[in-house]
Amino acid sequence: MPENANIDWDSLTFSMTKTDFMYVAECQLGQPWQVGNMQPYGKLEIDPAAGVLNYGQGIFEGMKAHRSVEGNVVLFRPDENARRFQRGAARLGMPPVPESMFIDAVEQVVAANSHFIPPSGRGALYIRPVLWGTGPIMGVAPSPSYTFCVFVTPVGPYFKGGLSCIDLVISDEYHRAAPGGSGGVKAIGNYAPGMMPSKNAKKRGFAEVIYLDAINHELIEEVGAANFFCVKNKKIHTPELTGTILPGITRDSIIQLAKHKGYEVVEEKVHATFAMEADEAFCCGTAAVISPIGSITQGDKEKVYLNREIGPLTRELYDSLTAIQSQKEEDVFSWLHKVPLEIPLNLV
Ligand code: PLP
Ligand code: COI
Repeated sequence: MPENANIDWDSLTFSMTKTDFMYVAECQLGQPWQVGNMQPYGKLEIDPAAGVLNYGQGIFEGMKAHRSVEGNVVLFRPDENARRFQRGAARLGMPPVPESMFIDAVEQVVAANSHFIPPSGRGALYIRPVLWGTGPIMGVAPSPSYTFCVFVTPVGPYFKGGLSCIDLVISDEYHRAAPGGSGGVKAIGNYAPGMMPSKNAKKRGFAEVIYLDAINHELIEEVGAANFFCVKNKKIHTPELTGTILPGITRDSIIQLAKHKGYEVVEEKVHATFAMEADEAFCCGTAAVISPIGSITQGDKEKVYLNREIGPLTRELYDSLTAIQSQKEEDVFSWLHKVPLEIPLNLV
């Protein structure tokens, strides 16, 4: 296996670089999952009548493996991703992948591609577990068979410019999710409808779109693929989980971290008007980490936060979260999961 992947770590963006190996497992509806295998990374064959291709029966996860300052390779709260993956599978009528199988697959793929993990502090190995209905189906019903696949890619910052403030625009026209829909799970079908609004926002110079609730169009829900926070008089506000917002693992970690530091955190309805009067705002996610928000535009109104400087609380939370993730600070919440790199590679 190569010592390193010959990658310029400092030029990494959030994009796909092919790695060497992936994990694939299969399951027939109503039967237990078969243990999967490691394979060279490459194309999969798929039936044109697959449920995922015709009816969007699919979910994904997003996780990162970091090289820590202590020389370990660590995952961040992978059990939470495994559980969210199970909830998503249940919502989309798919057989949930057992938690131990999920973690084992992730560990194997990270270990087999360890030469693609950036050095500490210079990026991460992004892990993408996916579950698709791959069996042929013509009626709108669950596929007869399923594929669970895990692949990885080395990544840098999600938003251009790394830890610099981003400008966001509130979407007046589009919503991400409605009550009773699939917004609370990582269904693949939640993402394509956001591409056009996001592309249009980028053309206007914004980094992403903020979505409001689909009923009254007043409450902040999320930022594209990240959760929203704002700070007013040192009190931290984030939209409560209503079923239409993805329960982010970074969101939950920030809430725990901020409370542990003695800050008051409220999970409640966050009106757009309130957010636009706040002192600081940021969004967060596995890909986005903590991204400070420099401005929010709604119609002809623009709110600029702190002259587009990173707010003090945003900076403090970013420093603490990333220090835990890189083992610079003690993992007081036991969030880190060390990956054993010596796992033997069992290729099919
Ligand atoms: N919201 C959406 C819609 C997402 O796709 C993501 C990314 O996974 C998040 C929020 C943040 O979730 P997490 O912190 O678990 O990555
Ligand atoms: C993540 O933060 O891991 C996500 O899933 C965002 C992604 C849609 C790029």
